[in-house]
Formats: sequence, structure tokens, C-alpha cells
Amino acid sequence: MSKPPVLRAENITKRYGKKVVLNNASLSICERELKILIGPSGSGKSTFLQCINFLVTPDRGRVWLDGREILRTHKRDLNAYRQKVGMIFQDFNLFDHLTALANVEIGLTRVRKMGKEEACEKAMQELDKVGLRDHIAKYPAQLSGGQKQRVSIARALAMDPEVMLLDEPTSALDPELITEVLAVIKDLRANGMTMIMSTHQLNFASEVADEIIFLEDGIIVEVGPPDKILYEPECERTIQFCSKMRELYGNSR
Ligand SMILES: Nc1ncnc2c1ncn2[C@@H]1O[C@H](COP(=O)(O)OP(=O)(O)O)[C@@H](O)[C@H]1O
Ligand SMILES: [Mg+2]
Repeated sequence: MSKPPVLRAENITKRYGKKVVLNNASLSICERELKILIGPSGSGKSTFLQCINFLVTPDRGRVWLDGREILRTHKRDLNAYRQKVGMIFQDFNLFDHLTALANVEIGLTRVRKMGKEEACEKAMQELDKVGLRDHIAKYPAQLSGGQKQRVSIARALAMDPEVMLLDEPTSALDPELITEVLAVIKDLRANGMTMIMSTHQLNFASEVADEIIFLEDGIIVEVGPPDKILYEPECERTIQFCSKMRELYGNSR
């Protein structure tokens, strides 16, 4: 028997005004898997991830974590859920007035009610894991984009999430900084973190994804293993999208 999924989202639909930006999108992910969402800008990738985390309230659809449905009307349920499902944003979302260390500590003291000393120790460990041991006292303005994104990953990791959602974590970065963030994500994968990530980095997706989900106009057009979706897709629209991405970002194969 196959393993039950850690997280399952079913028939998520979201409208903004009259426009349906996400139409009956479903996915499920098992422990240690990495699933990658691809699709043109405006196809609904961020909306999908935000609906999964209930940062945006879907109009329709249900979400389960560890077999339990998350009832977004139950505030305590929702808060507990958000601790277990970490989110990484394109633009880092760090507090500019706090050091790297304090950015990681704050969730631990405020949300997990950890004592200051314990929080500090845990935050240092997480920053060390993403290679920032020597930068803990710096403010976001003193860090490169890649370092900022690594702080934000450390902050999410500090909550000991079961699943991480990463929304185009490298798209705000200069090309030379993308690799260092992708290396951290690869490391997380090697250590068994369960992740759903949207990205335009098709080479990365082809190397590490268990499954690729192609989204267009709010609809999941095609789903499958990287080799199939990236190199032998069935739908004409997937073919067009992938070849356009290769023109823009290159291709190692
Ligand atoms: N808060 C919002 N209000 C109105 N429209 C939105 C909002 N957020 C996203 N949209 C629209 O929803 C569609 C999907 O957006 P998004 O999920 O950000 O796509 P992607 O992440 O794939 O670029 C787009 O047409 C976008 O303009
Ligand atoms: Mg987006």
C-alpha cells in the first residue's frame, strides 16, 4: 500500500472579482517528497501556495495535514497548522529592523513561547545550517539577497515544520546568488524535508523534483515526473511553456 500523504489539498478554487485565478486545483504530497509548480507568470502559483497555507482564503476546497482536515474557522487549528507548514516568499519578508538572529528568534519566542536563551541557541543552529554562522548580527540591509533568503529559510526551519512551501524563492535574486539558495534547498531535500515549491528554474526541477505540476490560467494542465513534463509533455501548452523557459533560462540537457 502506498504511504498516506502528509498534506493534501483538494479542489481549491479562488476568485478575485469575477476572475477565477485558481480552478479546482488539487495536490497531495508524501513525506520527503519535493513537488514543483511551474507555469507562466499570473497562472496562479502563488495563489495556490497561499491558499494551501490559508494566507489567502479559498472560495472552495479542503486541506488536510496528517489526515486531519484543517478548519480555517478554528483559529487555534489554523495557528497550529501554520507552524507546521512553513512558507518562504520571493521577497524574503524579513523584519528590516531586526538582525538575522533576531529575525529567526522572534517566531520562537512569540509563537512557540520559547525562553530567550533556548530561542537564541536554536536560531543559531538554524542559521548555521544555512551557512550564515558569521552573519547572525547583521541586519537585512547588510546582507545579499541570497543571504536574506537563507535567513528566511532558517526562520521557517526554526519552527520545525512538517512541510515547507517555497514561492519562487530565487526569482528576486541576481543569477550568481541563485545557486547558493538552490544548494540550501537541495540540502533540505537530502535531509528529508517535504516541500512544495514554485520556480522557473527548470534545470533544478529536472534534477530534484519527484513531480512537476504545470499550471496555466489557474488550471492544472499536466502533472508527472520531471522527465515526462519537461522533455516529453503531452499537452501542447506544456511544450510551449517549457521551450520558452529554456530559451530564457537555458538548459543543461
Ligand atoms: N490580491 C489579489 N487581488 C486581485 N487579483 C489578484 C490578487 N493576487 C493575485 N491576483 C491575480 O491572480 C492571478 C494569479 O496570480 P498569482 O497567483 O500571483 O500567479 P503566479 O504566482 O503564477 O504569477 C493573476 O491574474 C493575478 O493578477
Ligand atoms: Mg507568484
